[in-house]
Amino acid sequence: MLIDSHAHLDMQQFDEDRQKILERAAGGGLTHILTVGTDLDSSLAAVTLAKGYDLIYAAVGYHPHNAQGCDFQKLDKLARMTSEPKVVAWGEIGLDFFRNLSPPEDQLKVFSRQLEMANDLNLPVIIHDREAHKDVFAILKKLGKSEKRGVIHCFSGDIDLAKAFIELGYYISISGTVTYKKASLVKDVACGIPLERMLVETDAPFLAPVPKRGKRNEPLFVTYTAQEIARIRNIEFEEVARATAQNAKDLFGLK
Ligand code: NI
Repeated sequence: MLIDSHAHLDMQQFDEDRQKILERAAGGGLTHILTVGTDLDSSLAAVTLAKGYDLIYAAVGYHPHNAQGCDFQKLDKLARMTSEPKVVAWGEIGLDFFRNLSPPEDQLKVFSRQLEMANDLNLPVIIHDREAHKDVFAILKKLGKSEKRGVIHCFSGDIDLAKAFIELGYYISISGTVTYKKASLVKDVACGIPLERMLVETDAPFLAPVPKRGKRNEPLFVTYTAQEIARIRNIEFEEVARATAQNAKDLFGLK
């Protein structure tokens, strides 16, 4: 049993063989895949996929890259989509001051608004935080503590920051970057946080783990990530798989 808590299955990279990829995932023991929206169209596509396939659940949201040009009417449309039973989270949302594809002030405005909306709808959030640790943490801290706030996806901070997010009620999601030789920061986090607060993800089609690095990523490859975490923590693969799957079920209310 294994859950990929973050993928982008709507993307065109999967148009040719989406069905096969899902069969491979199911054959490899994956029980759920959360496909995550990045704007209005991809959120709609995520919801459609979730309706079409048992394995798939959806999150709707506006990625910080797309904050420019996102008005609040679009966010209201996302809010209406959350009445679909397989929409289990709001995301991905956050700040990206590494690529800055949208101006920071737009990113901040759209992020804050979506946090409010997710809070009102009582949905967990999926947070994208790239080179924006201080701002993301300050904003989430203002919201206060709660048991199941959401997840910091593809976590890239240090162990102290991971623990601080956990203290606020967030889970930490480890991606395929943990398999990269030089990723000592992520390895430290994967080793040091409690297993009860950890999720695993692919972020497919991006960030394929070793030994698939550089290729298109797919949900089944979350197996390599869980194997590497098991190796680092010196525990069984099954323990990582079981715990992270249970955590994803708890956080997103998956059946
Ligand atoms: Ni993503």
